[in-house]
Amino acid sequence: MSLENHDLGKGKGVYISTYGCQMNVNDTERMYSLLEMLNYTPVNSADRADLIIINSCSVREKPVHKVHSEVGRYRTLKSKNPQLKIGVGGCVAQQEKKNLLKDVPLLDFVFGTDAIDQLPQIVNDLIQKEEKVVEAKFKHSEPYHVETLVRNPGVSTFVNITKGCDNFCTFCVVPFTRGRERSRPLNHLVSDINNLTKRGVKEVTLLGQNVNSYLSECGANFAKLLETLAKDTDIERIRFTTSHPKDFDEELVGVMQEWRSKIMDYIHLPVQSGNSEVLERMNRGYTREEYIQKAKMILDIMPGASLSTDIIVGFPGETEAQFQETLSLLEEVPYESIFSFKYSPRPFTKAARWEDPLSDEEKSGRLYRLQNRHKEIAFELAKKYENTVVQVLVEEFDADNERATGRSTQNKLTHFQSSKNLIGQTVSVQVTEAFPQTLRGVMVL
Ligand code: 5AD
Ligand code: SF4
Repeated sequence: MSLENHDLGKGKGVYISTYGCQMNVNDTERMYSLLEMLNYTPVNSADRADLIIINSCSVREKPVHKVHSEVGRYRTLKSKNPQLKIGVGGCVAQQEKKNLLKDVPLLDFVFGTDAIDQLPQIVNDLIQKEEKVVEAKFKHSEPYHVETLVRNPGVSTFVNITKGCDNFCTFCVVPFTRGRERSRPLNHLVSDINNLTKRGVKEVTLLGQNVNSYLSECGANFAKLLETLAKDTDIERIRFTTSHPKDFDEELVGVMQEWRSKIMDYIHLPVQSGNSEVLERMNRGYTREEYIQKAKMILDIMPGASLSTDIIVGFPGETEAQFQETLSLLEEVPYESIFSFKYSPRPFTKAARWEDPLSDEEKSGRLYRLQNRHKEIAFELAKKYENTVVQVLVEEFDADNERATGRSTQNKLTHFQSSKNLIGQTVSVQVTEAFPQTLRGVMVL
């Protein structure tokens, strides 16, 4: 099928609803770009669409239920427009495969996480052949050679560098829904990012489930990738997420410090638990002490860098004493933000087979105590920014209120007054007020 001139989507609208992580947001962008090649027009409400895609997430609670209820909301649209096609992509699609078609009869197609680039073909088959389509096989042996597809990249955009995960943390469904880990070649990433800078992009966030196990076909590791992008491309700012503590080494921190003008001093370093026994059962590959050592090493080499983390409370068998060790970790590692979750069993995972005796109320209680303590700490930590000058890449401008917004190198959303539209410029801002997630200040020259 020649895609460029295809008019399968001429005069038709496509609507994609997105759940979950940044990886999914990026995949949605890719789906829109691919469907535009079929001449579909993106629309921002489902009732104007002829094609609806739910880009699903199964990392946490009730994912299949969410798909069910969203598709249910489209029942009347489908009866008004029998040509309307509804599909599910993303992790729930990968996990459930053809079962989804059985469970949700209104669905027309299901496509897995390795089938995104087949979407034009899938939609073509669906419409031409008038039959339901399921495409959810992993293509483990295929190299990961795709260029970034983004319609209006703006100032800051995301670039996938790896896909999949081989870590098999015992609570996590991702290795089953995203498949084995593969890395894009270093030279592809250099040309991809050069193309994006030509389109006005100033900042890229490199994306992967575990970016620091990146390994290019040419042998370059993640530290080498960062160094090459900093040296050999015109990109002004580089961010990345998510890092795995076990693969975060001194070589990498050294490159980050050396290129601090370009590589941002913010690191998301998911710990998951502060207790070594729980970490062992989670199969995380480090102890509490080793994690604390790593965080110290990072802050020693990169003073002033900002850290954030992910935490799971109520992992199967987690005792009150073990939870207390997660609480006390907050006193040891200065996290400026945390993302915390109640454990929930995920299909195929090891931990899902273990007893999970803690009640939902007890899990909620632990989550509440953790978040409350962190709130106090984050307020204290934020004060260090007051009266300092931060570098802000401006991403938004509100002309009516003469207000500019961007992010500091440490990833804090920063607002300041400006009569000029400075989108795309990096400016110095003196912080007058600092809160855990946002800074307010005045521009200085
Ligand atoms: N239950 C609760 N939280 C989970 N996460 C991943 N799997 C689960 C689960 N089964 C959290 C982890 C991970 C983040 C993306 O989601 O903290 O880092
Ligand atoms: Fe899941 Fe662990 Fe892989 Fe992260 S590193 S995606 S938590 S298996």
